[in-house]
Amino acid sequence: MLILGIDTSCDDTSASVVENGTRILSNVISSQTDIHTRYGGIVPELASRRHIEMIVPVVDEAVKRAGVSLPDLSAVAVCRGPGLIGSLLVGCSFAKAVCYSDDIPLVAVNHLEGHIFSVFLETPSPEFPFLSLVVSGGHTSLCIAESFGVYTELGRTRDDAAGEAFDKVSKMLGCGYPGGPVIERLAEHGNPDAINFPRAYLPGSLDFSFSGLKTAVLNFLQNNGKDFPLEDIAASFQASVVDVLVRKTEWAIDKSGVGKVALSGGVSANSLLRKKMKDMGHKKTVEVYIPSSALCTDNAAMIAAAGYHHFINKNFAGLDLNPGASLRL
Ligand code: KG4
Ligand code: ZN
Repeated sequence: MLILGIDTSCDDTSASVVENGTRILSNVISSQTDIHTRYGGIVPELASRRHIEMIVPVVDEAVKRAGVSLPDLSAVAVCRGPGLIGSLLVGCSFAKAVCYSDDIPLVAVNHLEGHIFSVFLETPSPEFPFLSLVVSGGHTSLCIAESFGVYTELGRTRDDAAGEAFDKVSKMLGCGYPGGPVIERLAEHGNPDAINFPRAYLPGSLDFSFSGLKTAVLNFLQNNGKDFPLEDIAASFQASVVDVLVRKTEWAIDKSGVGKVALSGGVSANSLLRKKMKDMGHKKTVEVYIPSSALCTDNAAMIAAAGYHHFINKNFAGLDLNPGASLRL
């Protein structure tokens, strides 16, 4: 079964053809980083305009690279949210038009569910149930994926998402957007023990909080900025985020008794997080699944992977589908 996935939730226009929910035939991503970099963050209006320009060539390219044509598709899976409403509208409207004109079934996928399903695009992949930590620019969410469509939330961020903290700290340091890769590169040459930034473990809760850490970095910069190497600030900040994410996942394993962990979302491209999460899994004899970096950040293959399950469960969307900017999992 061939599913065409479409994701326009934020600042990447992406389309992908995936076979049987696991085998990627094509995964085309048109990044908008060059447009937003000069503003130090995503400008929603510019993002949606760029999606309008790119959606046709990106879908064309995905179909061409996969060696298929539209009538070969079993369904079109589109991300309906959460995300930027103007951006989501482009993907949803386009997907509806394709389904209408070629008489193809439409399925709607939650962006977070897409991130959870990115682990099924790699081998080995976990069997249900597994713990899923999604860490991205908009979300930090810990849940038990019990089975397809059944997700028990254990914790989420109370303020900033982990990726958002990386982006904001990068901006404070005067570095570029997106912040995660920039901070990671700086941190490679820095001392993670140089500054003891706070770690909000929130004992007794599996929620997260990163706004205090962000403020601590801001205060530190105001008091010491010029005297301190940026590399040490980046490394100490990164160490704090990673410690919290790994420790809380460890608590979730203890609390739930679930012995498999899947990590996904843009921040899971971070090498230190990947290493520390794997070390923790090794220590606790728990299997840890992390997709390759290209499948951690936004992509349409993950939307097609989750869409496949909607399709085989006959969970179709109508042509009156509307996106939801604040959709919950
Ligand atoms: O999943 P994603 O592509 O988009 C959302 O759904 O938000 O995640 C983007 C986020 C950004 O905040 C970016 O700074 C962060 O992921 N990110 C990283 C790394 N690569 C991307 N954070 C830390 N280390 C990285 N290597
Ligand atoms: Zn995402």
